[in-house]
Amino acid sequence: MTQLDALKDWRWFHGNITRQEAEGILKENIDGSFLIRESKTNIGEYSLSVYHQSEIIHYHIQFKNKQISLDAKNYFKNLYKLIEYYNCVLHLNICLTHPVCDTNSLRSNLKDLGCILNSDAIELKDFLDKGEFSEVYEACYKSKPVAVKKLVNMEYTDQFVQEANVMTTLNHRNVLQLIGVVLDKDVYLVMEYMDEGNLANYLRSRGRDSITEEWQLNSSFDICVGMEYLEGKHLVHCDLAARNILLSNCGKVKISDFGLSNHTGALDKRIKFPIKWAAPEAIVDRVFTCKCDVWSFGVLLWEIFSFGKIPYPGVPASDIKEFIEEGNRMDIPDECPSSLRSIILVTWKLNPADRPTFKKLLELMTPLFGSLV
Ligand SMILES: Nc1ncnc2c1ncn2[C@@H]1O[C@H](COP(=O)(O)OP(=O)(O)O)[C@@H](O)[C@H]1O
Ligand SMILES: [Mg+2]
Repeated sequence: MTQLDALKDWRWFHGNITRQEAEGILKENIDGSFLIRESKTNIGEYSLSVYHQSEIIHYHIQFKNKQISLDAKNYFKNLYKLIEYYNCVLHLNICLTHPVCDTNSLRSNLKDLGCILNSDAIELKDFLDKGEFSEVYEACYKSKPVAVKKLVNMEYTDQFVQEANVMTTLNHRNVLQLIGVVLDKDVYLVMEYMDEGNLANYLRSRGRDSITEEWQLNSSFDICVGMEYLEGKHLVHCDLAARNILLSNCGKVKISDFGLSNHTGALDKRIKFPIKWAAPEAIVDRVFTCKCDVWSFGVLLWEIFSFGKIPYPGVPASDIKEFIEEGNRMDIPDECPSSLRSIILVTWKLNPADRPTFKKLLELMTPLFGSLV
């Protein structure tokens, strides 16, 4: 899916909501975020609401001869064609770049896909870990072990619905599989259970004594395979880090935590993201691309070969951007094979265009394995 393909998903159409409701949905967003709603004043016509430089601007979309227009000059067959056209420039530098989805339609999509589960069918067991708005438990569903990510702050229900929707589109051996969602008095994401937990804790607890270079290389490669799959779908993960890689006891490595993932790469101003993993260009404008994931992948490789250290030791998060822009990079851990050093460094090129794609990274990494691949 390309960024324009993401627009074909008509979930930017919010139906019969008021101007005030549209403003509530778009506030604190990033420039170019937009939605379309039915016009309250001109029945049967539409309104376009766009966030631009801390303001929300509303445009009337008029109908004439079965066509629609914003300016009575350019006419389009349908809303998608209009949005596609103004994806570049609407006027005064306003672009329709970031569709904001209607979460009601995301919910009905989950229902249509048969993903909604009943909470009674799920038996929560041991507490496993805590996320920012969630608690993760081992659980049992249809007599099988599963993991449940339970929302603890209901304000973030829409984000959970979004995360579940992204996961429903994914099916790959190196990507965590969603089993279903509970959306009643409790809100759960039910996922396959990864019994060895996250990679950051694994690296720290096992350490040099039991983790071999071969294991480190294999895991790095598997993560790259999973990321190439996401890149092929033009899905930006936005939070790639060792804490979001999960391990099973049979040695499987899977990418998880799609809480920030989306096709346009835009994160609104309410969402916090981890600076130490973020590419410098995304720290400023909050727009992530697959090349930002490539940067984070380099940080993740650094975590793997430093056995789970926190990146940029001694540098506070607030100084990271300046540190990088001055040309500084982290020292590559001594344990990192020399052939991988240049690969890590190329993921940290300041200009995103100079970073390889995940597809290219796979090619670069393949010779490191000899007969392993
Ligand atoms: N499917 C799972 N199996 C086992 N542990 C999990 C699973 N999902 C999450 N966890 C644990 O919970 C932690 C937080 O989950 P995550 O999805 O990353 O939440 P958040 O979005 O709040 O960061 C992970 O780092 C991991 O330790
Ligand atoms: Mg996480």
